[in-house]
Amino acid sequence: MKKTIKDVDLKNKVVLMRVDFNVPMKDGVITDVNRIVQALPTIEYAIEHDAKVVLLSHLGRVKEEADKAKNSLAPVAKKLEELSGHKVVFVNKTRGEEVENAIKAMAPRDIVMLENTRFEDLDGKKESKNDPELGKYWASLGEVFVNDAFGTAHRAAASNVGIASNIKDTVAGFLMEKEIKFIGGAVDSPVRPFVAILGGAKVSDKISVIESLIKKADKILICGAMAYTFYKALGYEVGTSKCELDFVDFAKGLLEKANGRIVLPLDTVVAKEFDENAESIVVDSDKIPSDMMGLDIGPKTLELFKKQLEGAKTVVWNGPAGVFEFEKFAKGTNGICKILAELKGAITIIGGGDSAAAAIKLGYEDKFTHISTGGGASLEYLEGKVLPGIDCINDKKCTCGHCGND
Ligand code: 3PG
Repeated sequence: MKKTIKDVDLKNKVVLMRVDFNVPMKDGVITDVNRIVQALPTIEYAIEHDAKVVLLSHLGRVKEEADKAKNSLAPVAKKLEELSGHKVVFVNKTRGEEVENAIKAMAPRDIVMLENTRFEDLDGKKESKNDPELGKYWASLGEVFVNDAFGTAHRAAASNVGIASNIKDTVAGFLMEKEIKFIGGAVDSPVRPFVAILGGAKVSDKISVIESLIKKADKILICGAMAYTFYKALGYEVGTSKCELDFVDFAKGLLEKANGRIVLPLDTVVAKEFDENAESIVVDSDKIPSDMMGLDIGPKTLELFKKQLEGAKTVVWNGPAGVFEFEKFAKGTNGICKILAELKGAITIIGGGDSAAAAIKLGYEDKFTHISTGGGASLEYLEGKVLPGIDCINDKKCTCGHCGND
């Protein structure tokens, strides 16, 4: 169990808070504010408890000077101001006098946001390689460290692990706590039956997660283009569908190991071109025409998935069922959202990345127990890996006397 922001005294203290404000942007405009919205409860709690809140985040990748302009956190600070209703003082530096003076001038309940931590990467990848001096410097600016950046918990950077190793009180924020509770909980001690739904384009991206879940889940429902590699393993023709020939043997091995616990789609929506207006038909999985490609799961599959999910108590879903970016091929992904939204008495978790984006885009934002803010982080967490950004948070001693966590 990890310590949380509720376990430390914040009053009048400079609280360094690592958030993941690595939000998608187009022409300087934020296109999805979810990660900012999800960080608000922790920020709000710190303000209510009279902390001086100093926010740190990365944004994009900064490899050369020219990357700085498009990766400044200035628009994010503005958006946070709008969404939180609090004034946010943005300092366009990551260290030095301006940063230190801005922090010295803070009163309790003030918010300061520093510039993109990855601007430090221009000088020898100091942030991304967890340069010890940089972590020590940032830690010297505050008294408490709150890590609420689950999205970046799979990276050991100066702004998470580096700060944590130089400050006594490192605790989780509410978002981090929620991610640990739901994703960690599903992996470590799922309420059964536990069903995993895995989609997305490539088997190769999901090897470790399938290998981990096959040991833990009662069933794994496969969808997305990944299914075509499994069809091939069964000897079906897949036409011009995306298929990873190098992974057919791996898929074969998994089907054998799973002993009937892997469920594949029964039908698929096929078209001749990868185009949002392409004419399409639905065919059975073993009848994909040689000149057509699969772009979504069909209605029989949705019925099958619905049956497989009946009575499930924990469901984890990672990866869309089809090309949901094209309305015509979003029915499968939409259908899964609907099935999960209507599932009674189940913990439903969307494991981040594209499936989270799809669920939000399709209007199911509030219909699941938890939609993860992590992409790579949630995948690695589902794989059962220890994430450095979680590992660096102080453990909480339990006082119950019998759970062994004391
Ligand atoms: C993410 O968006 O997955 C996290 O913010 C991590 O970003 P990165 O892949 O650039 O490290």
